[in-house]
Amino acid sequence: MEKFVIEGGRPLKGEIRVSGSKNATLPILAATLLTDGVCEIRNVPKLRDTWTMCKLLRTLGKTVEISGNKVTISGSANTPVADYKLVSTMRGSFCVLGPLLAKLGKAKVSMPGGCVIGVRPIDLHLKGILALGAKADFEAGNVIASASKLKGAQMYLGGTFGSSVLATANVMMAAALAHGETIIESAACEPEIEDLGSFLSAMGAKIEGQGTPRIVINGVRKLHGVSYRIGSDRIEAGTFLLMAAAVKSDILVKDVQYNHLLALIDKLSYTGVRVDKDGSDIRIRCKKILKPANVVTHPHPGFPTDLQAQYMALMAITPGVSIVTDRVFPDRFMHIAELNRMGAQIRRDTGSAIIEGVRQLYGAPVMASDLRASAALVIAGLVAKGKTEIHRIYHLDRGYEDLDQKLIQLGAKVFREKD
Ligand code: UD1
Repeated sequence: MEKFVIEGGRPLKGEIRVSGSKNATLPILAATLLTDGVCEIRNVPKLRDTWTMCKLLRTLGKTVEISGNKVTISGSANTPVADYKLVSTMRGSFCVLGPLLAKLGKAKVSMPGGCVIGVRPIDLHLKGILALGAKADFEAGNVIASASKLKGAQMYLGGTFGSSVLATANVMMAAALAHGETIIESAACEPEIEDLGSFLSAMGAKIEGQGTPRIVINGVRKLHGVSYRIGSDRIEAGTFLLMAAAVKSDILVKDVQYNHLLALIDKLSYTGVRVDKDGSDIRIRCKKILKPANVVTHPHPGFPTDLQAQYMALMAITPGVSIVTDRVFPDRFMHIAELNRMGAQIRRDTGSAIIEGVRQLYGAPVMASDLRASAALVIAGLVAKGKTEIHRIYHLDRGYEDLDQKLIQLGAKVFREKD
């Protein structure tokens, strides 16, 4: 295992290029199961989660070649069984369900179960494929779905906590090869769904409305291979903006879609940070003490749950009181205890965290509990006085490409060491 050692209290400066989006990459890689053609996918982030999906595709019969940030996938899916060991390590792998069902007429995919950010049901995924005429059963922890022919249908995919990103992705992929028209109402509007829609279109799918709550798909008989570039990672970009705000710095974050980050930018502007669009880059300038601001997470275009922990780290060192509420994953607060070990004053009150901003955090040994919680600890470590050791950074390696190298490029003192 490895750890990060951060010597805090240094400003960041310079510029950083954002990598390809992890959450767009996973369903796009899964979508290659829909074709026997060759797919060349560029700007793929080099991450543990990406490699897990590549491994899963290999076990399903595909040939996967990786060269830097390019992944080339060929061959045909030849088994509907998604390996438990791989699916259980990454929830994102559940999005092979839709493409396997559409291509092979059958899918046996291990149920992803819960994780540290809370209970993670799959009812909307099942609702979607049942509406397309599939049957679904549970057996020994697996979902077994089958359909001799998928038929397009109108469906409502909103759930208790709003839309679901991967359920929308699963239905889009299944419907791409179904017979007739599918209309998904209350579809997830996340940019990663837009990216998946563009990828499917490039493969020959007839799909409209991706990025809006109503997606219309007219099934086609066959999809072909494609060369495609993944869009940039808005969560990584947002994390860098929050890091710069926390250490009161000016940096240029390159290759970002400003429009994807409006909820965060709006909040940062309110707190006193200056954020400017500069072509396809974002410049952030932060000099002064900020004012606190409450945040409630929502599905896109609301404030993303995947930036909640990092925003809380910023509020932890912003004098005054703020409240952070997670409406997407109401139990996603594992980072509170670790931030408090560094001197933060945060207490949990059901689905919210109440943060009393302090003037200073202090370096300490802390434990990463999940991907975004780990990023919050990195922010705290960059601000803190003294040395912070973050253990279990394999969580960070799941979702941030070369984070230590990028931070070093920005002038931070970050060391990756054996733990
Ligand atoms: C995706 C992202 C994850 C992000 C999340 C919310 C990937 C690989 N992961 O996860 O980083 O935090 O979106 O933006 O893209 N729900 C149901 N029933 C379902 C499915 C979900 O009730 O069948 C609920 C969830 O418990 C949660 C909410 O819907 O409260 C949103 O979850 P969802 O959008 O499905 O998250 P994922 O797609 O798994």
